[in-house]
Amino acid sequence: MGEIDRLGAAPWEYAPAPESRELVRFRERYGLAIGGEMVDPRSGTWFTSVSPATEEPLAEVAQAGPEDVDAAVGAAREAFEDGWSTMRSAERAKVIFRIARILQERSRELAVAESLDGGKPIKESRDVDLPLAAAHFFYYAGWADKLEYAFPNRRPAPHGVAAQIIPWNFPLLMLAWKVAPALACGNAVVLKPAETTPLTALLFADVCRQAEVPPGVVNIVTGDGSTGAALVDHAGIDKVAFTGSTEVGKEIQRRLAGRGVPLTLELGGKAANIVFDDCALDQAVEGIVNGIWFNQGHVCCAGSRLLVQESIAEQLIGKLKRRMGTLRVGDPLDKNTDIGAINSRQQLERIRELVASGQEEGAEIFQPACALPERGFWYPPTVFTSVAQSYRIAQEEIFGPVLSVLTFRTPEEAVEKANNTAYGLSAGVWTEKGSRILWMAERLKAGVVWANTYNRFDPASPFGGYKESGFGREGGRHGLEAYLRFDGGRRG
Ligand code: NAI
Ligand code: MG
Repeated sequence: MGEIDRLGAAPWEYAPAPESRELVRFRERYGLAIGGEMVDPRSGTWFTSVSPATEEPLAEVAQAGPEDVDAAVGAAREAFEDGWSTMRSAERAKVIFRIARILQERSRELAVAESLDGGKPIKESRDVDLPLAAAHFFYYAGWADKLEYAFPNRRPAPHGVAAQIIPWNFPLLMLAWKVAPALACGNAVVLKPAETTPLTALLFADVCRQAEVPPGVVNIVTGDGSTGAALVDHAGIDKVAFTGSTEVGKEIQRRLAGRGVPLTLELGGKAANIVFDDCALDQAVEGIVNGIWFNQGHVCCAGSRLLVQESIAEQLIGKLKRRMGTLRVGDPLDKNTDIGAINSRQQLERIRELVASGQEEGAEIFQPACALPERGFWYPPTVFTSVAQSYRIAQEEIFGPVLSVLTFRTPEEAVEKANNTAYGLSAGVWTEKGSRILWMAERLKAGVVWANTYNRFDPASPFGGYKESGFGREGGRHGLEAYLRFDGGRRG
């Protein structure tokens, strides 16, 4: 120790550890992936996807209009009817299996692409997004020829053309969550990635080509919300799956009303991460860090409300603040980065606005000293204490690196506070007592309850919400159900 103290003047710095940008080469311009080809948009319009870490333009991307959406739905319909839905299911499994293998083979390239286009730290895209995306395809490849066993005596059949709209926080992983079960069940898909993160979906079109996915089975239409709306409004779709904001989820539900098109919605959350006084404190601190600062807090199931038992609140918050000081914010491509760039200027504004509301309403803010890069979109890890349940920062999804801390005294009070939200996606419980975990899990209104861990995902485990967090499940055998019908006849 003495030696380090004497060196006090020299800061303990990490050397840069950049992943190579050269692992991915974007084209200058991407068309739409329709019918197995890259085609220019009939709309004739394009937009630019930037790196949120530097604001540098990465590539031009097509803004698909209604005519383009129509072409994509038509290509999907043709592929569905012309072989994909009637192909031997073991053959379909092989195709999906090949996608999984190619994702693994190209994982470094895709991880760099994901971090460049969306701003997430490379250690997350490399160690979480890519392995999990591949795992989803492996997992659902295994179900493709076993659907009759998954749903005995129910005669499962695919819907037809699945319209899928995904957000920007886990671009390739959300694509995998949507595309893998849809294909396993024999559907063709038209997928619209988010406007700030379209590039890995476009690279995925190339993965499909390599995997010899029949043309038209997977179509990618890029564009903004109007493209998504055109897809939802198209008369030729048989199923809609959406992940994104509650507001747009509700709008989609309105647009589909009365059309008999099945819908799954995976929307926002305001999860309680509940820490009891008997837990392993240091592990809980790591779980809190992972719960809220994973992917800059752009996570629907983020543990954004920390509920701490009063008797340990001071000690826990002290430990947490110290730990926050060690989080490294900066270049997403640096392998030591913990917190990357905020996905877009718009999202940064939203975070700033909600943080300002917290300060105005009377919460106490803490941010560790940290130097943020000059260009790009950044927000430091932030914690609010003295938060009342009524504050906006305790009720609304911030979708950024901002944690609100509340306290409780009894398990009953913890449950009541945890459930006091319009959402119901996930929750965390930290305690040594197994019986208390079960007691809490029974009472928490959340689709997923993690015990002594947080943000753990597995393709075999279903994920989804209650209340304003949406409905339907993704992952596991449950995830197949959204892509099948059981009536034995066609939708009329
Ligand atoms: P958003 O819901 O607008 O975007 C999600 C996807 O929906 C994008 O692909 C977008 O182009 C598409 N979309 C937008 N309007 C549409 C429409 N009318 N019809 C069909 N598709 C449409 O989310 P946004 O505005 O980027 O983020 C706002 C807030 O939503 C965030 O701050 C966060 O709180 C929440 N959010 C939640 C996500 C989740 O994983 N549950 C993901 C993204 C955002
Ligand atoms: Mg981008």
